[in-house]
Amino acid sequence: MTDSLTIRRPDDWHVHLRDGEILRGLAPWTARQFARAIVMPNLVPPVTKAAGAAAYRQRILSALPPGTDFEPLMTCYLTDATDPDDLAEGFEEGAFTAAKLYPAGATTNSDNGVTDVANIRPVLERMQEIGMVLCVHGEVTDPQIDVFDREAVFIERILAPLLYDLPELKVVFEHATTEDAVDFVEAAGPKVAATITPQHLHINRNAMLVGGIRPHAYCLPVAKREKHRLALRRAATSGSPKFFLGTDTAPHAREAKESACGCAGIFNAPFALESYLTVFDDEGAIERFEAFASENGPRFYGLPLNEGTVTLKRTEVQVPDVIDVNGTDVVPFHAGQTLRWQLA
Ligand code: DOR
Ligand code: ZN
Repeated sequence: MTDSLTIRRPDDWHVHLRDGEILRGLAPWTARQFARAIVMPNLVPPVTKAAGAAAYRQRILSALPPGTDFEPLMTCYLTDATDPDDLAEGFEEGAFTAAKLYPAGATTNSDNGVTDVANIRPVLERMQEIGMVLCVHGEVTDPQIDVFDREAVFIERILAPLLYDLPELKVVFEHATTEDAVDFVEAAGPKVAATITPQHLHINRNAMLVGGIRPHAYCLPVAKREKHRLALRRAATSGSPKFFLGTDTAPHAREAKESACGCAGIFNAPFALESYLTVFDDEGAIERFEAFASENGPRFYGLPLNEGTVTLKRTEVQVPDVIDVNGTDVVPFHAGQTLRWQLA
């Protein structure tokens, strides 16, 4: 039995670090585990311009203890009004690593998102031309569509036709939650990949709804039925270069989750590697963890692999019930549970 695993330093290809006071408490959790992170732009107001991204990047770096080796990779929040030249300039000067498509109204702070992909067609054409990655929140917002079907319908109505027209566009299907997404990504060409969160590997929708309603298991896209969880576990541990680590850590204050209308998002940054590795261990795929965590992401983005290593030990770690994030109480994923691996 492997009791210790040393891998190349990993990256998190999808995080929400928020802003202001809470950012100071959050950034160190992500920087402790990861060398780089793709930072989501859904602030209020959203990050839509290169100058705004550069300023946000500086606030993230200032939130870290001096000497921390961490690289925030910034994203542009696409709106109906995004200008292709502006975006391309931000990408070429390095202010943006990728752009994020939020269908308007799909999730937290997405009201300024895209109301119809036809409105950003020139932007997407330019992204295809310059090789800039499109990160996609893959859910339709049509109120007629059941919330558990929104991902599958997005693929059918929006993504498949889009990639038919723009076959060279680099797309990361963020936080895949369904077998439909796994099948789609596997069948697509090499320009299409997906991130998978720890929660969607661990829980199905029962975790939210059985024995009482559990707001800390609620995120978007919402966890689906068990067959989807199993498909995600197969994909993540398959060794396919198309799937990689993206936690979607999305903290909200405890009282904002434990509310009559609770916010979507799971705070998984503090024990993310531990959580993922438990899955790879259970699936007998420990030897495939390094590719998922540290190689597939940078290769897809066309970035260098990290130098240096991290080590995880097979030892029990107790996840606290609540974490004080610079003055805000946040309940972490796996709160109150024991995980079998610990980051050394
Ligand atoms: O659960 C989620 N929370 N899903 C998202 O897409 C956004 C995120 C957030 O920002 O809270
Ligand atoms: Zn997210």
